Parts: sequence; structure tokens; C-alpha cells
Amino acid sequence: MAVVAGQPTATPEPENPLTAGLERLPVAPTTLVIFGATGDLAKRKLLPAIYNLAHEGALPERFQLVGVSRGKKTNEEYRVECEQAIRQFSRRTPDEDVLKGLLEQVKYVTGTFDDDAAYTALGKVLDDFEKQAGEPLNRAFYLATAPSFFPVIVEELGRSELARHEHADVRVIIEKPFGTSLAEARELNRRVLAIFDESQVFRIDHYLGKETVQNMLAFRFANGMFEPLWNRNYIDSVQITAAEDIGIGTRAGFYDHTGALRDLIQNHMLQLLCHVAMEPPVNFAAEEVRNEKVKVLLSIPEPTAVEIPDLAVRAQYAAGHAGGEDVPGYLEEPGVPEDSTTETYAALRLEVDNWRWAGVPFYLRTGKRLARKITEIAVTLKPVPHLAFSQDGSLGVQPNQLVLTLQPNEGVSLRLGAKIPGTRMIIRPVNMEFLYGTSFLSQSPEAYERLITDAMRGDATLFTRNDEVEAQWRICDPIVTAWAQTPGPLPKYEAGSQGPAEAEQLLREGHHWRAI
Ligand code: BG6
Repeated sequence: MAVVAGQPTATPEPENPLTAGLERLPVAPTTLVIFGATGDLAKRKLLPAIYNLAHEGALPERFQLVGVSRGKKTNEEYRVECEQAIRQFSRRTPDEDVLKGLLEQVKYVTGTFDDDAAYTALGKVLDDFEKQAGEPLNRAFYLATAPSFFPVIVEELGRSELARHEHADVRVIIEKPFGTSLAEARELNRRVLAIFDESQVFRIDHYLGKETVQNMLAFRFANGMFEPLWNRNYIDSVQITAAEDIGIGTRAGFYDHTGALRDLIQNHMLQLLCHVAMEPPVNFAAEEVRNEKVKVLLSIPEPTAVEIPDLAVRAQYAAGHAGGEDVPGYLEEPGVPEDSTTETYAALRLEVDNWRWAGVPFYLRTGKRLARKITEIAVTLKPVPHLAFSQDGSLGVQPNQLVLTLQPNEGVSLRLGAKIPGTRMIIRPVNMEFLYGTSFLSQSPEAYERLITDAMRGDATLFTRNDEVEAQWRICDPIVTAWAQTPGPLPKYEAGSQGPAEAEQLLREGHHWRAI
């Protein structure tokens, strides 16, 4: 072998047993079908994500996109809508050639989701693509519709024999919410799994596609220094916050039947909790990772009716000041009934009853119209056992706290005690920071970019499994039921504030909510 002067010879990397066999599979030629192709999700998230994948050359060489929706329109009209959505919502300014190339692959099928004829037309489009390609194409059906259509579409796909292909893989991607209760989630799983095999089903929780959520696993399992401390002996409490400054905007129709607990805690926030609490998986294969998450969820005791007032708080935003302007309260938002008891804020105190975590409170809170948008996980360590400093010196000593900020300003910060320069031993907290933006100097992809390619690739690691989604509902369902039985009005918090005073009652002695 010729060796180029000055360059080190490459020594072959020893095979890592943890990653062996887990290489990223290439994305096979695929037709992606979006049901709900003219809806908000398709326009704001899916189409821009698909464009960005095209921009990065991350789509398969042969890729076709079919939009299915009720509105009657031609392929050309739908292409114009796609173009507008991409120009408006893509994270990068589109490259004209890439955009043109992508739009050429787009087709549109008109039809209501329960109309057999729409599926016949869709089947024909899919067959035509294959004829042109001269090879079988994988099919990925993305259900980006109102949730009531999920079982209808799945059953129609089954009936029209589009759910199976003799020579290619067929997958179905299902948006959230996956049911609005444990019973509904079970029923939906039953209906979906009557048509598709679990290995074909990709349930979306877009938080799992966020770079920073994936980084939590890297952070925990690629660094030796945290794991020995990562348990009840050293950790005092965990606080997970998903605060938003926006109100419900025009989403009253959806939100008033959903509320903060179902909208964010049942899915996104319980996933974050799992990432903090799970055991190291044997490897990062989908089943191994999801097995560990399910174990965490099953270790959380199901809240009983008697316990709920002590471990769950809900509230609604009242008028206030946000983003530099006066904003209405939830009950004054357009489309919200004036006696609505839907919570726009929810906070819980949960415990993970296992060897690693028994006794450590996990505080979760989320809300609309809070002081700012921030998603973070704060892990507070126990105080040091003895302070040898003088009275003055000890005053500024605080327990170490590790804060993982998922958005915005993604990063990790570690609170340490340090001596203030000077002749006396006086301590104060300082932060050691890692910021994604400055360390990597690159823009993180949108969660949907990662999720769409993973689903087309058949990698389910970042998707919620049937038992996982049911285990999440198992925790939230009793709270939803108890709240539905307790009459309003709900406690209020001012828009733009830190949330309701009632949230304090969840905290154990000496604990505080972090400032939002
Ligand atoms: C969605 C909820 O799942 O997540 C929305 O339905 C919420 O109500 C959104 O605003 C928050 O997502 P992100 O990525 O902005 O944190």
C-alpha cells in the first residue's frame, strides 16, 4: 500500500460491539404519501423538512411525494402550494434547482379519507411510479390528519391492499395525539395492528427528533463522569420544564379538548423523563432503547384519586402582558367556551420507583403564556455533607446543578461552587457552560427531518412503540379523569408570568421552581 508522506497511516478502528450491526441503513427508493397534505402540519413542518432533506441529498435517489386531501386540485396547483409552504417555512432559503427537482416528483390525489375511490386512485399513482421506475418502491403513509381519521385511513389502506407489498416495505407514520385516553390509545393500537405489523408502525413524538433530546443519551452514556452520580444516592431532585410564551392562537378547536397534560406531558415530557431515568441500553437498536423507556414508565406508580390533589396542579392563563403587548386570558380567546375548564398549565410530581430512583421527586411543568419559551431539564445534586468554611464562606454554597437546555440556546450548564477572588474564603455559584451553537457552529436540523428519514429507513428508535404509548397513558389517564370530575373554575396565572402560585404546593421542603 502506498503511504503518502506526512500522513499517518490509518489503523483500522476496532469494531465496537455496541454499534456493530447498527450502521445507518440507506434510504431505499420510496414514495411518501401525506394524508392531510394541505393542513398546517404538512405546510409548516413536513414539506419544509422534505425540502431540506432534498437540499442535503438525504432523500433516496428515487423519491416521489403524493399529497392526499379533500380539496379538489390538480398536480400543478398542489405543487404551487408546496412551493409556497417551502419558501415560507423552510429553515434555509431554497436553492431553485433543488426545489424545482423536488416539485417535479410531487403528485396530488383528491379524496375524502373514507372514500374507497380515493384509495383506488392512490393505488394507481403508486403503481405508475413503480412502472416508470422499473423497480418496486417502498411506501410510507404519513397520517398528518385530524386524529379521528387515523383508524379510518389505516383500515382503508388495509381494505385497498395498500398496506402490504410483495417486494417492498410499507410503513405508516402516525402523528400525535395517539388517543386521548388509555382506552382510546388501546383501541387505536388494536385497529392499527389489525392491519399493520408493529414493525411497520412509526408513532411520532417530535421531541424525539430534536438534536438536544438525542444528545441527552450521548451526554449520559458517552461520559463516564455522570453515570456514577446518576442515582438516588447523589441526586436530590429532577425538574423538567416545557414553558411556552405563546397562547393557543387559533387552535381552540383542538386545544380546548386537549389541555396541557395531554398535549405535552403525556408524550413529550414523559419522553424527556425517560431519557433522564432510563438504564443504559445494551445497544442503540430500537427495541433495546424502547424496552428501557417502557421499564421507566412502568416504574412510575399510577396516581390514585386520593393522591392526585397532592401531586398534580392545573391552571389557566388570565389576561396579562406577553411579547410586549397586552394579551387576553384563555377564556377570552376566540373559540374557547367561557366556562371552559381546560388547563393551559399542568405540573406534576412523579416518582420512579426502582433501585436507581426511589424517593427522588421528578417535577414536570408545562404551560402556555408563561414568561418565555424554554425547555430544560435541571438535575439537582444533594448538598455536600459538611461545610468546612467559615459562616460567611459557606453562605454562597449551593448544591451542584446540571441543566440541560433543549431550546432555545441549546446547551448544558453545570453549577459549581467557586471561591470569589480576594483574601477571604467566600464561595459563590458559577456556571460551566457548553453551548451547541458555539461548539458546533452549525444549525441543528428540524426534528421532522430526522424523523422522516428514519421512518423511510425503517429505524424505529425515535418512535413510540405500542406498549410505550399505553404506558404513558397509564400515568396520565387517572389525572385526566380526576380533573374531569372536579368542577371549575381553575386557578389562574397571569399571562407572561411564572405560572400559578398553586404549583408551589407540589414541591417538597427546600425545593423551588426554577425561574422561567
Ligand atoms: C406540540 C403541541 O406537540 O408541541 C403544541 O401540540 C406545542 O401545543 C408544541 O406548542 C411544542 O413544540 P416545540 O417543538 O415548539 O417545543
